Amino acid sequence: MKIVFYGAGNMAHAIFTGIVNSNILPAENIYLTNRSNEEALKSYSDALGVQYSYDDEQLLKDADYVFLGSKPHDFDQIAERIRKHTDSNQKFISIMAGLPITYIREKLTVDNPIARIMPNTNAHVGHSVTGVSFSSNFGPKSKDEVLEVINAFGSAIEVQEDHLHQVTAITGSGPAFLYHVFEKYVLAGTKLGLEKSQVEESIQELIIGTSKMIERSDLSMEQLRKNITSKGGTTQAGLNALSEYDIEGIFEDCLKAAVTRSIELSSQDENES
Ligand SMILES: NC(=O)c1ccc[n+]([C@@H]2O[C@H](COP(=O)([O-])OP(=O)(O)OC[C@H]3O[C@@H](n4cnc5c(N)ncnc54)[C@H](OP(=O)(O)O)[C@@H]3O)[C@@H](O)[C@H]2O)c1
Repeated sequence: MKIVFYGAGNMAHAIFTGIVNSNILPAENIYLTNRSNEEALKSYSDALGVQYSYDDEQLLKDADYVFLGSKPHDFDQIAERIRKHTDSNQKFISIMAGLPITYIREKLTVDNPIARIMPNTNAHVGHSVTGVSFSSNFGPKSKDEVLEVINAFGSAIEVQEDHLHQVTAITGSGPAFLYHVFEKYVLAGTKLGLEKSQVEESIQELIIGTSKMIERSDLSMEQLRKNITSKGGTTQAGLNALSEYDIEGIFEDCLKAAVTRSIELSSQDENES
């Protein structure tokens, strides 16, 4: 299998690093290109053994999968580069937020199978939750191959294309929402009189440990919470204070705003601007 990445930025880097590290295919079967930052391509090639080129004909010759990994507004230029060298065996995988399959197909002027994926930055540590949606002409064998690739940098959830907006909000932007909550927890902690560095370090460990508990336990998060909340104790006192606020409502507003913005960004007019 040959995979070509058009765009080797932050997100693509996490993805091809995950693929190489998981050994699902030899590094030399992965090809990279970008707009002009050859130094970056060379450093990825040196570090991982992947190949790079700016020769579109060579890149696309016998390619099985073509990752579309630029920002959405750069896609038209990429389509221009790819269009002349596409053959009907190639399948496309877009990581570009908001660009519908119909738009990608129109710009590439092809009927080839297209998958859209919505990863998150936890791909850097092999823990992206990635939403994926396939065009109707994606065959079962190719779907399995794409899912295997996604599993190389985390886990996959298959959704209808329309639902990628919700995935974008919940898990695509999710790390930023959680970082924000953790930041505020640190700030509140430092107001209790301990050294800031001590608070930061201990909360970092707290987050890692709590995540591992969620991962390793069969219990729900609700049950894990209940298990450490004694009646009349300190945890109960803190939770009582939290229950004065509509935390669920706050996150509902946050997620709705992100979904709305995702829908706005995917509108044809904005993509063309
Ligand atoms: N970052 C996230 O958390 C996240 C999450 C989910 C989805 N995404 C999606 O991932 C995509 C990439 O985001 P990113 O953060 O990785 O962006 P990025 O770091 O800015 O990388 C963009 C890449 O596209 C390349 N590029 C631009 N024009 C090109 C052209 N004409 N031909 C070939 N390559 C070209 C750039 O090359 P040069 O460096 O040479 O300019 C660069 O390698 C976006 O569409 C975003 O919606 C990102």
